Amino acid sequence: MRKKIIAGNWKMNKTVVEAAGLARSIADQAGEISDPLILICPPFTALTEVAMALKDSEIQVGGQNMHAEKSGAFTGEVSAEMLLTSGCSHVILGHSERRALFSETSAVVNAKTIAALVAGLIPVVCVGETLEQREAGTTNQIIEEQVGGSLDSLSEDDMLRTVIAYEPVWAIGTGKTATPDMAEEVHVYIRGLLAEKFSQEIADEVSILYGGSVKPANAPDLFARENIDGALIGGASLTAELFVPIVKTMEKLEV
Ligand code: 13P
Repeated sequence: MRKKIIAGNWKMNKTVVEAAGLARSIADQAGEISDPLILICPPFTALTEVAMALKDSEIQVGGQNMHAEKSGAFTGEVSAEMLLTSGCSHVILGHSERRALFSETSAVVNAKTIAALVAGLIPVVCVGETLEQREAGTTNQIIEEQVGGSLDSLSEDDMLRTVIAYEPVWAIGTGKTATPDMAEEVHVYIRGLLAEKFSQEIADEVSILYGGSVKPANAPDLFARENIDGALIGGASLTAELFVPIVKTMEKLEV
């Protein structure tokens, strides 16, 4: 059974005090949910406080990025070990904002993914096409390059510990969600790529999350699809009132 995951990517939002408060509200409103796994990814500055606020809950904490090197002269960067020792179990890698605004190629994402796995973090590797790419009919090509490049040279064990998030760039923060059909189609395509690269058994075990304007209203139809194993949520993860109902939507489907 694939793990169901509802992850909140807070991006560059929330001070330390605000972040700890939001984490507590989410934990209070979610109660004792262990399936789906709830993952919260605050800014680096708030990781320790958020992890402390969640220490008695099942909710896990992740970073939003990291550097592939262990240490050194990389001003402004953080390492896998720094994330781990700040209370993280996961790290988001290759988010489209990192790829577009910070020039991260799939080779860079690959180096980070390997470093995260070596350190014992679970990478949440993001892929997704832009509107221009979708309109040009190159979605599958882009996804193939990003999946192949970002996951290059991973072992089968590595792949089983890795999560993928499909986030069409045109759906992020725009209010335009991919329809469940569109999302499912790409998730099936990604699973097919994993089956080719690894095996069908491994492909069937990898959780593939959808991201892009996920809200309480559109979550039920997305989560009803066989290959959508959860969500990576931006805007709607910034309040417990929007985030927790999405978690509960997935929890109800599980029963
Ligand atoms: P929104 O949910 O705000 O569209 O953001 C999605 C996202 O980028 C999550 O990583």
